[in-house]
Amino acid sequence: MEFTPVDLILEGEVREGKVVRVRGWIHRKRTQGNLIFFNIRDASGVMQAAIKKNAVTDKEFKDAEKALIESVVVVNGRVKKDERAPGGYELEATGLDVMHFSEIFPISKDQSPEFLLDVRHLWLRSTHLTNVMKARHEIIKGLREFFDKRGFYEVAPPMITTSACEGGSTLFEFDYFGKKAYLTQSGQLYNEAFITALEKVFILAPSFRAEKSRTLKHLTEFWQLEEEAAYFDNDDNMRLQEEMLESACQNLAKSEIIQKFEGQAEKLKHVKAPFHRLSYDKAVEKLGIEWGEDLGTEHERILTENLKKPLFVCDWPKQSKPFYMEIAEDGEHVKNADVLAPEGHGELIGGSERIWEFDKLLQRLKEQNLNVKDYEWYLDLRRYGSVPHSGFGLGIERTVKWMLNLEHIRDAIPFPRVINRAYP
Ligand code: 4AD
Ligand code: MG
Repeated sequence: MEFTPVDLILEGEVREGKVVRVRGWIHRKRTQGNLIFFNIRDASGVMQAAIKKNAVTDKEFKDAEKALIESVVVVNGRVKKDERAPGGYELEATGLDVMHFSEIFPISKDQSPEFLLDVRHLWLRSTHLTNVMKARHEIIKGLREFFDKRGFYEVAPPMITTSACEGGSTLFEFDYFGKKAYLTQSGQLYNEAFITALEKVFILAPSFRAEKSRTLKHLTEFWQLEEEAAYFDNDDNMRLQEEMLESACQNLAKSEIIQKFEGQAEKLKHVKAPFHRLSYDKAVEKLGIEWGEDLGTEHERILTENLKKPLFVCDWPKQSKPFYMEIAEDGEHVKNADVLAPEGHGELIGGSERIWEFDKLLQRLKEQNLNVKDYEWYLDLRRYGSVPHSGFGLGIERTVKWMLNLEHIRDAIPFPRVINRAYP
């Protein structure tokens, strides 16, 4: 007999009285005399099975008594509607096989967040994290489809590099056979190499930053979706970002999994282009901070707390941004925009037009005291067939955190890496 996924039964797809075979983990267990209830969890959901003493063999009932939570079981049983059972259906067992008897599971109620991070490999099977990982899958699938439909190629950059992209202070440096190398901060510079052949490309890959602060939105290893397109200017770039986020939100709003996150489907439906736009200069005025200063968490919160859709903060001072951003006509600003999520969830995207002329780029590298030798290959891209182009990077975990309204970014990734943690 084939195995029936739990969700098929809970959705009423299996007629009452039919005998099916379900396999999964004991999520919860309760004993009432000669009756044992398992909540059985498989990848699709959780349902109740009732094991009655006289309906199974003595050995099977003894095994049921013995089996602790997280044991793996195969239950044959009759599907029955039951209002009292979670999900409205119950399986009346006619047979039971315990595939694995679990040891006492170390996670019980009311454990500290730090402990749950220590046993993250076990906590991943919790209902909350299971739902988050399903939603993350849905979000990433939608993003990939978005770019695929528009003719973008997914490309593969290296993770080991000798060219810093986002400044020296957050570089993870290591010894590469006697030479200095870094874990990549961003695939952008490589994306720019690909556009000379493929024109429109994207990368979905990890980025690494030695972030020394502990915040609700910083990881040391996170995933970035980075886009780059030949001939795009900053306006084209911003429009693409709006369309991408609108599509991701509408897609998730329609999904089944979003129902597990109360109120989020409604919120996501509001996320439609065009987004709000504010110049950096106006933002500074509003916040009463000094021109040239970066926006902190509190500033981002003030700017976005009552918004229903994201906010572009555009045209930043060139000294506050990396060397590769195209300079505006006034010589003081760059042609860029950051996207801030609503309700203080923070910066989702950093993007800009790129400097595409050799002399300008060389000058900016020198102004920022970067070692030109490390960027020779990148300068080549301005020697041979250079075109105006733009691109951006979307932080996947920031996006997941915002779309699901998670409190902390660490729950948007299975195994979070932060300053004090690289285990498990
Ligand atoms: O703004 P950032 O630093 O931009 C870049 O890396 C560009 N080179 C991207 C490009 O144009 N191809 O990072 C992009 C996004 C941020 O907006 C944020 O969402 C996320 O990456 N991010 C982080 N997410 C989690 N933890 C961190 N420490 C992050 N740093 C950046
Ligand atoms: Mg940024």
